[in-house]
Order: sequence, then structure tokens, then C-alpha cells
Amino acid sequence: MADWSDFIQQIKRQNDIVDVIGSYLELRRSGANFMARCPFHGEKTPSFNVNRNLQIYKCFGCGESGDVIKFVEKYESCSFAEACEILAKRAGIPMPESSSSGEDREFRERKKKRDVYLNICRDTARFYYRAYYGEVGKVARDYMTKRGFDEATVKKFGIGYSPDGYSLVDHLRSKGYSTDDCIKCGVLQQTQRGVTDALSGRLIVPIFNMQGQVIAFGGRGLDDYTISRGKYKNTSDTPLFTKKDNLFAINIAKEQKQHSALPNLVVVEGYMDVIAMYQGGFKGAVASMGTSLTEQQAKWLSRLSDTVYICYDGDSAGQKATVRGLDILDRAGLEVRVMSVPEKLDPDEYIKKYGSEAFDKLIDEAMPLPDYKLKLLADAFPIDSADSARRNNALPKYVKGALTMLRALDDVRQARYITAVSVKTGYSEDYFRRKLSQNDADVSETEEYGVSPEDKAKYFIAACILRGESYASIEDKPLCNSKFLSDLYDYLFDCKAQGVKPSMDMLYTVCPDAAPEQYAEIIDIGFDKDKEINERYFRECRRLVTVEKLKRKRDELMKQIKDNPEDGSLLERLSELSKKIADVR
Ligand code: UTP
Ligand code: MN
Repeated sequence: MADWSDFIQQIKRQNDIVDVIGSYLELRRSGANFMARCPFHGEKTPSFNVNRNLQIYKCFGCGESGDVIKFVEKYESCSFAEACEILAKRAGIPMPESSSSGEDREFRERKKKRDVYLNICRDTARFYYRAYYGEVGKVARDYMTKRGFDEATVKKFGIGYSPDGYSLVDHLRSKGYSTDDCIKCGVLQQTQRGVTDALSGRLIVPIFNMQGQVIAFGGRGLDDYTISRGKYKNTSDTPLFTKKDNLFAINIAKEQKQHSALPNLVVVEGYMDVIAMYQGGFKGAVASMGTSLTEQQAKWLSRLSDTVYICYDGDSAGQKATVRGLDILDRAGLEVRVMSVPEKLDPDEYIKKYGSEAFDKLIDEAMPLPDYKLKLLADAFPIDSADSARRNNALPKYVKGALTMLRALDDVRQARYITAVSVKTGYSEDYFRRKLSQNDADVSETEEYGVSPEDKAKYFIAACILRGESYASIEDKPLCNSKFLSDLYDYLFDCKAQGVKPSMDMLYTVCPDAAPEQYAEIIDIGFDKDKEINERYFRECRRLVTVEKLKRKRDELMKQIKDNPEDGSLLERLSELSKKIADVR
């Protein structure tokens, strides 16, 4: 420990705060101090003050202050340890490590490997970039032009093109990289036809980390054949990149923040949404790349801003299980605002159709998370319906959902929303307060968690139906031994009866009391890119569930037979049932 604090002292001694901040900002001398425009809040006249004697900075505009490490931490949106590393490197101070231990050696080895992978990614990005502007890249350039992207935008994002399966392989070999390393960092892949470019024939969108290093790529298919194998293909998970934990364009949002030009941090789903928003003047957009948000992503976001706007596609918000991801952001302490884009458009389409000003308005109209949840509830349970029977039917369910929502809130917000919900429902505030204080009792009632293959199958079937997969249909409700499954299937069959499309968005609403793991069973199901595989698995699940139900019937029948051994018709039914079971199997 003594080592570490010595190290920090050394870092501070050898990194003069004026020099360090001066390398980031334009500093002007003013008496004993140096002044700049504050990078942590937008301002026209400088109130950001750096003092060499005290080795501190302070902004008289926003109050932000600290030492050199704190500055780097804030400015680079990095952790304390990372800030120390940056400053140590700058001053040529070795990181404290007892160099002989095996652990350190392993750490250094890993670090060396990491550098190799980063170099491979960087050289791959350059290769794609050159190809884009070369003769072979015309198809990609035409595509981007047709979509309305201008050259400056395309350059800003470092868009590239993969001409074919083999050119990149040759290029990386000529640079001396081992094929094995290239495969490990995901740019090349082993196929039956040998080693090939993992994103061959695609338009390339490089993905950068917070430090601005290329760590992965997204590749968009441009022709029907390629698209049929996935509209987008991404670098697989590697030591540098895990899709679910990264955010596309986080480097650009960070850059904006450093220029005090990050007014709204907006999370969208797709690469093209981010790029279109940038071109439309919204430079604080990042993409979750189509998956539901994770805690790691929440951490990245909270380094950049206190408030996050969520702008998911009108049509697929449900599939991406918006609400659960939003709860993760909320729990990370971020203020969450949910935007709704009309007409099931995605942000890219919306901006192209209606322009930036209209999009700005959507940002203004974004709803705080609790309000958004109440809106979903009201959509599902029309408590304002003119039809009193419908209204009365909806009310208790709405109240139940509202209680779940209220439970997730801190005391201050809870008090505020209890009032709101009470006004909306006509239930007294006291009723809600009483229910909420019984919270503990409810929790202990929820069942132990363990999932049988049959239940897994039921989750998968439900997920397929919620995603609107064309092959996903079942005839009758499976056995449901949890309230969650039962509520879920009731909802699915309700939808079927009414001829409406079920939606993943409704999960929290129709099954308001389930445990997080139960929601996860539906939301986190991995779907194969190959539709046929999903379909085959679906049929297998349906069979499993059918057999289970028939077997249950058989068990009941056997019980009856035990009580009425004389009844021949029961025996007959039993043999029919056994035959049916054998058939389905
Ligand atoms: P979208 O299909 O909404 O992407 O998927 P998009 O950006 O609007 O695509 P365009 O406009 O048709 O080009 C959202 C995101 O989900 C991921 C990608 O990150 C994509 O940007 N995705 C989508 C995949 O990884 N694979 C796919 O096959 C599709
Ligand atoms: Mn799109």
C-alpha cells in the first residue's frame, strides 16, 4: 500500500497541473493563475482556473475542482487507476509492480497481446478505409450516398469496405501478423475454405473504445445474398471487444464532452442511427448495437453524463426489452428519459423524413422512466376507457403494475409518484403506502428458482411468439407451474383471440410480479442468426411441452383408474393417450 501512495505522490510531483491541463486546453495567464473555458460545462467566458502553486484547478462557473489526477479522470472519462496510468506514462514513471511475481508477468504478457490485437484492428481499419475509397469501394460509396450520408460524416466515422474474403488476409500477413492473432481478435476467421476476412463483402463500420482505439467492426451487407446471412455481422467477442458491453460511437460522445458540446447523450439501437444523428447535428448519440443494455454500458454512459435519452426504434423496442435495460441505467444512478419515435421509424429514418428540428422536439418530449412505465401500463390496461366494464377490469391490474413501478423508486420519487398514481386510479395514497410497506412479505412468497427443460421450452416458445416469428404458433396453453408463465401465456392467448400482435414491451406489465431472473429467461434468450435453426428448436420445444401436457393427463387418468378400476372407458382412454404420447415423441 505504501508503494501505491508513493506512486501517486510521484505522479503528482512529475505532472505539473498547468502543463497537463495546458496540453488539453488553451490556457491563458492571468496574474498568478491560468484561465481557460471550462471543459466541464459549456461557457463563452473563461471561469476555469488553474493554480500552479496549489496544483489544483477550480471552475468558478460550475464549481468543479480537483488535482491533476481528478482532471484527467474527468476529462478522459476514465477511472482513477486509468488516469494514474495515463499520467505515469506521460512522465515516464513505471507502474508499481513487484516485477518478479508470476502474476505480473502474466499481466504484462496479456498487455503485450492486447497491443498486438489493437495494432491488428487499427491496420485492418486502415485497409478497409483505403478499399472504400479505391476502385473496388464504389459499391459502398454509392450505397452511402444513396442513403444520404455526406463525405465528411463518412470520414468522421472511418467507414470502410471489405472487398472480398482474401485481400485482408494477405494484407495482414504482409504486415507480419500471425494468422492466429488475427483470428483471436476477430478480424479473420477459419472456414472450410481456409482463413478469410470475417466481414467479407460488407460495408465496414469500425467500433472504437473510449480511448479512441479500434477494437471491433460492424459489417453491413450490401447485396441480397450477404444480407440473407445477416444484415449486420459484427466482430465476435474477443479479448478487446464484447458486443453487449460496448457502445458504438462512445469515442465521439466523449470527444463532444471534452469540447463541452455534449448537451444530450442519446442511446439508439443502430450504427446508422448514430451516423445519421451526427450528420443531423446530434453528436452525442451512441448505439447499444441491438442488444439490451448492460451494467457495463451503464458505467460508460455515467462517465459521460447524468442524464441519458433512450431512443429505440418504434417497431423493435419490445424485442430489445427496453424496460429492463432502462432499469439497469436507473439503478446505475442515471436519469433516464425515454423518447418515442412515431410511425415505427428508427432515428435515421425519422431525421431523414422530418428533419433535425422535429427530432429535437422528440428529445424535448422524452418521458422520465416512471412516467414511461405508467404509459405502458395505461396502454395495456385502459383505466380511462369510456366502457366502465373494461375500466373496472383494467384498474386492479394497472394498480398492481404501478406498485411494481413504485417499488423500484427511491423515497423521494416514490412519494411524488404515489400522488400521481393515486390521482390517476382513485385509490388512496395511503393504500399505495400500505402496499409498499408490505413489500417484504410479497418477496418471500415468490417461488424458488430452478428451470426444468420443459419450462425452458415454454420460455423459448413465448419468446418466439413475442418476437413475432412466422413459424411460432401453438394450439393451447402449456402447463404453467409459475404465475409468471401462466400470466404470460394468458396474455399470448388473449392477443391471439383478439387478433393483435403481442409485444415484448408488455412483459413487465402483464407479469408484474415476476423475479428478475424470470424476465431474463425471456429477454436474454439467445437466438441463432440462422432462422431455420430457431425454427427447428421451436418445434422441438413445442413437442416437449405437448408431451408434458399429455403425460400429466395420463397421470391424472391413472389416478382415476386406481379409484375406479372397473371403468373400462377409462382404460380405453388411457391406451389412446399412451398412443398419442408415443406419436408425438
Ligand atoms: P437495425 O436493423 O435497427 O439497424 O438493428 P439499422 O442501424 O437501422 O440498420 P440499417 O438502417 O438497416 O442499415 C440495430 C442494430 O442491431 C445490430 C446492429 O448493431 C444494428 O445497427 N444488428 C442488427 C446486428 O448486429 N445484426 C443484424 O443482423 C441486425
Ligand atoms: Mn435503420
